[in-house]
Amino acid sequence: LRPGPILGIETSCDETAAAIYCGERGLLAHCLYSQVKLHAQYGGVVPELASRDHVRRINGLIRAALADAGVQAGELGGIAYTAGPGLIGALMVGAAVASGMASALGVPLIPVHHMEAHLLAPMLEDPAPAFPFLALLVSGGHTMLVAVRGHGVYELLGESLDDAVGEAFDKTAKLLGLPYPGGPHLARLAEQGRAGRFHFPRPMTDRPGLEFSFSGLKTAVLTALPADADAQTRADLALAFEEAVTDTLAIKVERALQAAQLERVIVAGGVGANRRLREKLAERARRGGFALYFPRLAFCTDNAAMVAYTGWVRRRDGQMPGGALFTTPRWPL
Ligand code: KG4
Ligand code: ZN
Repeated sequence: LRPGPILGIETSCDETAAAIYCGERGLLAHCLYSQVKLHAQYGGVVPELASRDHVRRINGLIRAALADAGVQAGELGGIAYTAGPGLIGALMVGAAVASGMASALGVPLIPVHHMEAHLLAPMLEDPAPAFPFLALLVSGGHTMLVAVRGHGVYELLGESLDDAVGEAFDKTAKLLGLPYPGGPHLARLAEQGRAGRFHFPRPMTDRPGLEFSFSGLKTAVLTALPADADAQTRADLALAFEEAVTDTLAIKVERALQAAQLERVIVAGGVGANRRLREKLAERARRGGFALYFPRLAFCTDNAAMVAYTGWVRRRDGQMPGGALFTTPRWPL
């Protein structure tokens, strides 16, 4: 029995998105609305505003995705939604819409783990990586190295003991006076930086293990930042910070490949958009003889295509937890 196309809904944070994935025909449509401007004025995501904006946008995005895909709601084979981890009010919006649609259409309701969706995002690309692979998940909320042996077979090898890497980018960007979300702004500022003026540690690379710690780097930048820092100094600090973070990630990726005996790496999550990280990993992949896969930039950051795909896999494999509506702000992978 081949399932019909799956509608995926993503509302875990500050992007509202809907997408449709079909086994035979692949990704049929993906629509997204980013709330970045709404939250920028507050310097971070305001959960209640996020929930309300999801309510305003989600129905229009679902309609647009169905229209782009040329699919009638009645042809859908299931409704997948991000059930967690994320902001609880925001998650509830997607969950409520998904469950309403699923019961109206009489199709399965498929809760999806947001981080699993991120780590399967490269499967939407051509060529898709073969299993097994190492996943480096780097977002605003998570920094994880995961051995992916197959769909649903994940082993957490290491994660951050404090700030997520995207969070470290965002907090450091704030110190440097950059707007929210700071990661891409900091990366742009770093392009003007001069190497060698500042040097920050590569945290936890001097001892064995696959854990990360990024909160000290932000403090190191704060300590090095003069009160009257000029634009060049800020750019130099941005570069030194970015180099320290991306070196650390690249070192741990190579270490994890050896520890888990893997030959392929996928990078997912918003920080996967970082150019220096991509360059460093590509260079190590050439030297170290491992294969490297990135989702396209739009599927590195939050999106519903990865949710629709993950939901489709769950439906195909008959792995659907009960179908009861549930959301969870914290959910281990
Ligand atoms: O995966 P994502 O869109 O949202 C979740 O956290 O789930 O990741 C967002 C994070 C933010 O911290 C943002 O600053 C960071 O990814 N980011 C970047 C870049 N683009 C996005 N960090 C560094 N360099 C970038 N080019
Ligand atoms: Zn995310």
